[in-house]
Amino acid sequence: VSCEPVTWADGTLRIIDQTRLPRELIYVELPTAASVWDAIKTLQVRGAPAIGVCAAFGVLVGLRETAPATAGDRVRAVHQVADYLGTSRPTAVNLFWALDRMRRVADAADTGDTAEALGAALEREACAILAEDIELGHRIGAAGAALIREGAGVLTHCNAGALATGGAGTALAVIYHAHVAGRRFQVYADETRPLLQGARLTAWELHRAGIPVTLICDNMAAQVMREGRIDLVIVGADRVARNGDAANKIGTYGLAVLARAHGIPFYIAIPSSTLDPALNDGTGIPIEQRAEEEITAPFGYPIAPEGIGVYNPAFDVTPASLITGIITEHGIMDPPFTDSLCQLGTAGTQLSGAVLR
Ligand code: MRU
Repeated sequence: VSCEPVTWADGTLRIIDQTRLPRELIYVELPTAASVWDAIKTLQVRGAPAIGVCAAFGVLVGLRETAPATAGDRVRAVHQVADYLGTSRPTAVNLFWALDRMRRVADAADTGDTAEALGAALEREACAILAEDIELGHRIGAAGAALIREGAGVLTHCNAGALATGGAGTALAVIYHAHVAGRRFQVYADETRPLLQGARLTAWELHRAGIPVTLICDNMAAQVMREGRIDLVIVGADRVARNGDAANKIGTYGLAVLARAHGIPFYIAIPSSTLDPALNDGTGIPIEQRAEEEITAPFGYPIAPEGIGVYNPAFDVTPASLITGIITEHGIMDPPFTDSLCQLGTAGTQLSGAVLR
C-alpha cells in the first residue's frame, strides 16, 4: 500500500485531500456527516471504492452527531445518514453498496442493543469494508499482472489507483503488481479533463512508486496509439451492468473506440463492489452532471467567455462490445460477460473456472 486515502483511528475519520495533490500531501479530518458529504461531492475523496469506504465511516460519524435515544431511533438515524450520504454523487455504485452494508448491520441489531453495541457493530463493518477493499485490490493486481509484458506500453485514464480505493488500486493495482514482478514497461497517463485526475493523481502515484509514467493530453491518445506506443489500455470503472457495459470517467468510451480502431486490447479492472446486479445494461447507469465552472474556470482560472453554453457529464458508458476483458478479484473474464458477472454478483469468493480466463 503506497498511501492511505481513507483512515479511521480512535474514532477519527481522516482522508487525503486529493484536491491539493500533487502540490501537497495533506490529511484532513471529517468530523461530521456534512463534512463527509462535502468531501465526496468536491472530490477531496474520489474514486468509486474510496467513496464507498469513506461513506461507510461517514455513517458512524453521522450517528455520533445525532445521539438518538432509543434502539429504534438509532436504526432510523443510520438510515437517515446513509440516505443523506447517498445524495453526494450518483454514478459510483460502490457508494450505495457500502451504505447498504451499513444499513443491514443496523437492521440486524437487537432491539435491546445499547448505543455502544450498535456503534461497535457498525465500526466493525466499516473497517471490514476498508480491509476487504485493500485485499480485493491486491487480488485484482495479481489476476491482471501477466497482461503487462516486458517493454509494454500501457495507457490509463483518470485515476484508478491507490488514491481511488482503500489503498491498493484497481487498474493501477495491475500495474503495481507487474512492476513488483520485475517487468519494465511504460505507462501513458491521460491528463483527464476537466479535473486532471490523470495528471494530478495517477502521474503522482506512479512517479512516487518509481514506475515510468508519461503524461499526455486526452486528445493525443489516437496519435500515441498510431505511433505503436500502446499495447493495452487498462482503466477502472464506477459502475458495471450485468452485460459488462461500464461507466467510467468521461473520455473512457472514446479511448475504447480508439483502442478498437487500432486493434489494441481494452481492459477494465473492478472489484465485485463495482458491479450493479440490478442493471441489465448500461442504459440505466446514472451519469453525474457537474458544475459548468469545472470546464470554464478549472481550478478557479477562467479559460472561456462568460455566458456560453456548457455541458459537463462526469462519466460515460463504454459498451461491453468494446471491452476485451474484465479483471476482477477472481480472475479475468472474457466476453460475453453476462454469465460471469452474474456469478460475480452472487458467488462471494468462488467462481467457476468456466467463466474465467
Ligand atoms: O470523478 P472521479 O475522480 O471520482 O472518477 C473516478 C473514476 O472514474 C475512476 O476511474 C473509477 O472510480 C475507478 S476507481 C478504482
